[in-house]
Amino acid sequence: MLVIRGGRVLDPAGGTDRVQNILVDKGKVVRTISPRTQIPREFRGADEIDASGRLVVPGLIDIHVHLREPGHEYKETIATGCAAAAAGGITAVVCMPNTEPPNDNASVTEFMIQKARAHGGVIVHPAGAISAGQKGETLAEMGDMKAAGAVAFTDDGRPVMNAGLMRCALEYAGGLGMPIISHCEDLALKGRGQMNEGANSTRFGLRPIPPQVEEIMVARDIALCELTGARLHLAHVSAEASLRHIRAAKKRRIRVTAETAPHYLWLDDGAVANYDTNTKVNPPLRSQSDVEALRRALRDGTIDAIATDHAPHSPVEKEVEFEVASPGMIGLETSLGLVLRLVNENVITLKRAIALMTSGPARAMGLPGGTLSPGADANVTIIDLDREWTVDPASFASKSRNTPFAGWQLRGRAAATVVRGKVVYRDGI
Ligand code: DOR
Repeated sequence: MLVIRGGRVLDPAGGTDRVQNILVDKGKVVRTISPRTQIPREFRGADEIDASGRLVVPGLIDIHVHLREPGHEYKETIATGCAAAAAGGITAVVCMPNTEPPNDNASVTEFMIQKARAHGGVIVHPAGAISAGQKGETLAEMGDMKAAGAVAFTDDGRPVMNAGLMRCALEYAGGLGMPIISHCEDLALKGRGQMNEGANSTRFGLRPIPPQVEEIMVARDIALCELTGARLHLAHVSAEASLRHIRAAKKRRIRVTAETAPHYLWLDDGAVANYDTNTKVNPPLRSQSDVEALRRALRDGTIDAIATDHAPHSPVEKEVEFEVASPGMIGLETSLGLVLRLVNENVITLKRAIALMTSGPARAMGLPGGTLSPGADANVTIIDLDREWTVDPASFASKSRNTPFAGWQLRGRAAATVVRGKVVYRDGI
């Protein structure tokens, strides 16, 4: 039993924003009560967290995370990734299948879930591969992976270039009631591109990636989504051109959802200026007008979720020339701070920020959670909105250090992370 006392409870899905005590038993929210109401007798003597002066929200859900295990444990493991998530206030993650071997069958899915359970912290929901070996040729064993606990299918890390296979994937996933997560990238148009196409790619002498690389696949997959009636979720949307298609599709009630990542909301392609390989990411950082368009899309509902695309890499992949560096940046321990910075700078409201990290991602993936309503799993994030801190990769729980945000001063950070009623991270309360 646990009582989370005296915090400002903000639950966008449940329609709550007031000081409340939260009563937790057997891993579930029993109810929230006014601080003036007496704590019921059965909760006297329960563990307590004093959340007064703090914000209490449904546990943050990050639906785009690379945990790297099995196969690339030198970059991250399920245990270190889960510890990083907990330190970032994140209570559940959807982990991508581009491991070694890829998560394209039930035994890998089961392995991931068991490892996460053994760690005993954050909840891990594996996404299974769309295609066998993520090769884009034949469908993977989707039904088996669903039975083993997969929550979505994606070949993330690479696109499904064959539209016929993508149609089949949507049909099967639709039949199983599962979403397809699309990594939108036309590889032929991308060629050997390294960064966003524009004045900066010319200036820095790096091969360009036009935003149409993303836009074309967003348009294709929305068309296939309409054809099949299945659920489509668009991963790491980076370009204004893509948003126009998503907005139009939503207006027509096509079942599409979309995420973007904090780096696309804070950095433009000018950040590549000193060839810092920590700014190399796929899709690439875009122009300032794309950044502004994405910020508008957070406000108007075109974007449903903020997810990190946490992509750990070791110095072996990053301390090399820009052209040969692996794309990707870590994000689990900075995403809350970077999203709260959007609030501090009046880009979005606090309520919208929390919805984009809780109910929005839960709905996009069809996951439980994202609310503190009675009966929900007691996944709770307690936030100190006033805490000022400097991003210091050396202090990360993640095994990797590849962030472009080192040295950024942020305000707001997780004070405690509670998963199914158990405190898995605590800092300063
Ligand atoms: O930058 C990226 N890194 N984008 C992806 O889609 C894959 C990811 C990775 O796995 O490293």
